[in-house]
Amino acid sequence: MLQLVEKPSQEALERGAILQFSRCPVELPSAEDQQFLREGLGPFLRRKNVSWYPLAEKLTGLQAPASVAARAGRLLREHSLRVREFLVSAIPEFTRGWEPGTCSFRPLEEKGRGLSSHASNELVHVDAGAYGATHGDRILRFFVNLNPSRDRIWISKGSFEELWRRHGASAGVVSGGLEPTPFGRAYSAVLRVFPMGRVIDTSPYDRRMRRFHNWMKDTPAFQEGPSQRFAFPPYSAWMVLTDGVSHACIEGQHALVDTFIVPLKNCKLPAPYHLLAGLRA
Ligand SMILES: [Fe+2]
Repeated sequence: MLQLVEKPSQEALERGAILQFSRCPVELPSAEDQQFLREGLGPFLRRKNVSWYPLAEKLTGLQAPASVAARAGRLLREHSLRVREFLVSAIPEFTRGWEPGTCSFRPLEEKGRGLSSHASNELVHVDAGAYGATHGDRILRFFVNLNPSRDRIWISKGSFEELWRRHGASAGVVSGGLEPTPFGRAYSAVLRVFPMGRVIDTSPYDRRMRRFHNWMKDTPAFQEGPSQRFAFPPYSAWMVLTDGVSHACIEGQHALVDTFIVPLKNCKLPAPYHLLAGLRA
């Protein structure tokens, strides 16, 4: 499941690989700026993540003096641009027509944060709804461990397809039509006009994915089953379609996470949408 690579591959991503770069393939913020992210934001945190929304040009998660907020916003904006540039040139067909989502800095220790189970990164899940409705479009995430001395630790219990075939029936997530109603379609079309509209949008696909996400986090027997463990060393980077590969971050502090929504039509292999809609056996 983990592949050490120098260049990303669309096919490997679609097959459910976690692609790891031993050194981050994009230039990182300077040592001083990294230190500012790790140590300068703590007193001003209002949420678990500090996030830059490129389309809305908005920073969330901080209540800070203007100079602190401006520096954090600039660093995340610049990192987001570098990641985008790298991915667009590395996997041009897959990124065509994509929507850049947030660039977030995660400053808190992931181990033992004691969040509610649906918000916890420590429980294995596939991503659904955290960034709003996708209607079947894919969630691509690019991570960098910005901790200078400690690994970031993930576990996985397999791909969406494996888990859905094994647990879909008990989770009440079976295959069947995913066409929105005419009202649902019109509602989504109106929301899509606004940069943040995705966050309050919904669809039959997103509700079914969310149900599976919640079932995973709410089912102790599932969480206690066997997992694979991955350690991402300081300054390494990795990327994965997080709606297609189950994951949990169980340990680590200080990561940069870029999220992108990739059009479903760019996929060459069956995606969760095709499986849930019953379009692929
Ligand atoms: Fe996740």
